Amino acid sequence: MQQTASADYGYLRELVYGLSQNVLDPSRDYLFDTRLSKLLRNQGMSHVGQLVSHLRSARNPSLERAIAEAMTINETSFFRDARPFELLRTELLPRLIEARRMQRSLRVWSAACSTGQEAYSLAMLLIEHFPLLAGWNFRIEGTDIANEVVDRARTGCYHRIEINRGLPARFVVRYFDHHGEDWTIKPEVRRMCNFRQANLCATQLPFSHMDDRFDIILLRNVMLYFAQETRRRLLAGIHRLLSQDGVLFLGSSEQPADPSLWTPVLASGTCYFKPRQPGWQAGGIGTRE
Ligand SMILES: C[S@@+](CC[C@H](N)C(=O)[O-])C[C@H]1O[C@@H](n2cnc3c(N)ncnc32)[C@H](O)[C@@H]1O
Repeated sequence: MQQTASADYGYLRELVYGLSQNVLDPSRDYLFDTRLSKLLRNQGMSHVGQLVSHLRSARNPSLERAIAEAMTINETSFFRDARPFELLRTELLPRLIEARRMQRSLRVWSAACSTGQEAYSLAMLLIEHFPLLAGWNFRIEGTDIANEVVDRARTGCYHRIEINRGLPARFVVRYFDHHGEDWTIKPEVRRMCNFRQANLCATQLPFSHMDDRFDIILLRNVMLYFAQETRRRLLAGIHRLLSQDGVLFLGSSEQPADPSLWTPVLASGTCYFKPRQPGWQAGGIGTRE
């Protein structure tokens, strides 16, 4: 394979950062060669240096976006890290449902939803354990920067290997239709979820605080790719979109960049975050109510 100059990798790192705010470490430059191989083939190019020369000679926004998307890590699974889902089932959802019994409405956002397993896990959990929500106005919004994963989320079609990761057998039987190696989510689950492309680091978040606020936001395993300032800005925006008694889940290794906005609550071996109201003092870690 032809050698790629380090300046070319630097150019691509800058490009990815500019479009998705994902910070890529130079020690992992080899990932450009592997992750962009399909895109290079489609462009009739044989190496990354050729792609960079092409971009340096003429801007190509759709190709640049495709590069940024190809460099995202889309790892996910059904009921990933199980504990947040267990806590939602046993404590947080019963509390929120009680609080919303007059409005009969609940809104959830799976931000950085990848191929949709997180959103569908929650939808299945709701159908399975909270049948009374059938008559409610209930929406799960899923967004991700990468068009390809959003398209896959919309189809709700998963390979046997994806199904075998984290999904209880009775959920597979009850909520999926089976065609050879592919399993497609049933329409009753599919229609609870709405997926669309959105960049969490764009100047405006994909939802407005003028709409109904969210009751649950799952922002898991994405902030680790962002710089500290990007995380701070994003979480300030998320804070405005979450209802006062709503809950935020981050990935198990992630923390809010600005602790003055959030109260961490430890419960059932996991941690979630409640929005603090302006003027509150930053305090220590809370515990289950
Ligand atoms: C590791 S996956 C996490 C998926 C899911 N939240 C989970 O925890 O299983 C990270 C996702 O974040 C998305 N992502 C990365 N940068 C983003 C951005 N700036 N805006 C929106 N989504 C982004 C990627 O496309 C990828 O699908």
